[in-house]
Amino acid sequence: MTSRPLACIVLAAGKGTRMKSALPKVLHPIGGMPMLGHVLAAAAALGPERIVVVVGPGMDDVAKAASPHPTVVQQRQAGTGDAVAAARPLLEDFTGDVLILYGDSPLIRPETLRRMVEARGHASDPAVVVLGMRPGHPGAYGRLILAADGGLERIVEFLDADEAERAIGLCNAGFMAFDGARMWGIIGDIGNDNAKGEYYLTDAVAVARARGWACTSVEGPVEDASGVNSRVELAELEAVFQGRMRRAAMENGATLVDPASVWFSPDTRLGRDVVVEPSVVFGPGVTVADGVTIRSFSHLEGAHVGAGAIVGPFARLRPGTVVGEGCHIGNFVELKNSVLGKGSKANHLSYLGDADIGTGTNVGAGTITCNYDGFLKHRTTIGDGVFVGTHTTLVAPVTVENGAYIAAATVVTRTVPSDALAVSRTPQENKEGWAPRFRARKAAQKAAGKASADKG
Ligand code: UD1
Ligand code: MG
Repeated sequence: MTSRPLACIVLAAGKGTRMKSALPKVLHPIGGMPMLGHVLAAAAALGPERIVVVVGPGMDDVAKAASPHPTVVQQRQAGTGDAVAAARPLLEDFTGDVLILYGDSPLIRPETLRRMVEARGHASDPAVVVLGMRPGHPGAYGRLILAADGGLERIVEFLDADEAERAIGLCNAGFMAFDGARMWGIIGDIGNDNAKGEYYLTDAVAVARARGWACTSVEGPVEDASGVNSRVELAELEAVFQGRMRRAAMENGATLVDPASVWFSPDTRLGRDVVVEPSVVFGPGVTVADGVTIRSFSHLEGAHVGAGAIVGPFARLRPGTVVGEGCHIGNFVELKNSVLGKGSKANHLSYLGDADIGTGTNVGAGTITCNYDGFLKHRTTIGDGVFVGTHTTLVAPVTVENGAYIAAATVVTRTVPSDALAVSRTPQENKEGWAPRFRARKAAQKAAGKASADKG
């Protein structure tokens, strides 16, 4: 590996007209994370000294998404060469390697970028390394023209290419690695005498060759370089991303019964011998320990599930939730910002929000924490070995101490002391023989009503 310092420039000034969206293109998500986030993560994996993001005028939300990395504004969309030139003030003094990435190509993998940086360190000391690819349908991609010695001679844009050049299968994926010391001289020499009247970054190769400097290409998987221009391509890349996540989860020892129906976020982490049944969604920030079963139709985000727990079917875990070892969370149970200790259970129809629940506690069907008073959220604290009866209402802030029992349908508004029984119920009254009298009265009323209707 190289020890040369590295900087990255991410191009993200494009308007993305074909997305037909109020949202800038690079902020459209793949796996719930903006495309720009994926590209920044891939860049960061190489440990660069600096990352600079090129945005368009007024793209404040893109700048926010790029933070803490600095952004520069490309004032007019004058081409990829012009976009790179916009970053010059922040990198003019930088003499290491400079990688150029595209903000709308989110599937680039660090290992592919690493190969480009390695190629930069080759004995021929190339001024520019270009990532090439061979797509099934080369379409409008720029084509790489190789020199007799196998190096890269120039890149020709599709619109400017002749028939023979268009027949070339090796395409420009867009990503490039420059020698920072020679880069700004090259960029400064790029003109705009071409079909689009734009400053093509791709011309950097011909400019460098004209100065007598070597250029090379590295071939990478098409998947890595695929870009998004439309919602259809966004969905296609989402599918590729999900495929990668599913494969990684299975390779790490999780069983996905129906992989295609399980949806991941970039940071989802599943342990070994985790079983995920069909139709499960992992939002951001989920970690699942070993031996957990996530049953069908569950939705998890911002949650940790402890070893051996069973979650679902139809469970919803929201941010701030920690499900302890061996817990059972059953159907139509929603947990939000709540912690359940080892072996506790909430098996049916509950909302537990802002609650701290101890170990070995059983939460009965239909139990609800009233955590919100319309202005503020309050916590519910339930100890170890507590039995919370069916249909309990816990009005927070409130505490139930260890070993307490709560009778079914109780509304808990005060502390339940350790080992006590809490019960708040209207006493039951039985009226013997009431039902036949009621039925007779109602039947008579109905018959009288029908008779008067018939007369009318
Ligand atoms: C570019 C390449 C082409 C390559 C293809 C791969 C050039 C001239 N052509 O074409 O050889 O096959 O990518 O996908 O580089 N951008 C700016 N400012 C601009 C123009 C573009 O920031 O003024 C950004 C865009 O937001 C995008 C990236 O640069 O992230 C690429 O621009 P795009 O217009 O998609 O280039 P292509 O025509 O696809
Ligand atoms: Mg493009």
